[in-house]
Amino acid sequence: MFIQGGITLKGVVAFDSVHGNTKRVAEAIAEELTAAGHQVEVLNLKEQVPPEVTGDIMFIGSPTRVGKMTRQTRDFIENLDTGKWSGRTIVAFDTVGPLSKDPAKREQALSSIGQSPRTAAHTIQEVALSRGLTISPEAMHIAVVGMWGPLAPDALDMAKQRTRHYLEQLK
Ligand SMILES: Cc1cc2nc3c(=O)[nH]c(=O)nc-3n(C[C@H](O)[C@H](O)[C@H](O)COP(=O)(O)O)c2cc1C
Repeated sequence: MFIQGGITLKGVVAFDSVHGNTKRVAEAIAEELTAAGHQVEVLNLKEQVPPEVTGDIMFIGSPTRVGKMTRQTRDFIENLDTGKWSGRTIVAFDTVGPLSKDPAKREQALSSIGQSPRTAAHTIQEVALSRGLTISPEAMHIAVVGMWGPLAPDALDMAKQRTRHYLEQLK
């Protein structure tokens, strides 16, 4: 547990990953939460996850595959016991690619991907909204530079920086 603005919070990081890239992003998010003194629960959606997960903020992530989240990610959100998440924030994150190895081009691509409905994070947001969950309108898109990875060199720093941003917004 940690104190933020006088409130004790817990972060959940739920992820699916086929080739390990989204897993590394999930671990970076969890590390950042822990580094800030927060309590963290990490859920690998390839494993059996109970529907009654509780926390104050939840990051849900999936690789983007054919413009969508994975089946396991969808199943998790569809079966989630939403009662305990009333008024709490859900942050959608994903990995996308393959994007340019050139940082400026990659940034440009990430910004236009942010407008596209054909990402895992966007489909996570849609299903979460349909279940009455409160989502952060800003999804986190993290780049891979090959079809199956690896992550872009700045990917994990970006994930950590974005995590700090979401925590700031909770204040
Ligand atoms: C079958 C397949 C379909 C994919 N479709 C997309 C896609 O529609 N959009 C995209 O940005 N990346 C796509 N990718 C790239 C994945 O986003 C990339 O493999 C992912 O970041 C890997 O994450 P993981 O290691 O956690 O599985 C696809 C990759 C595969 C293998």
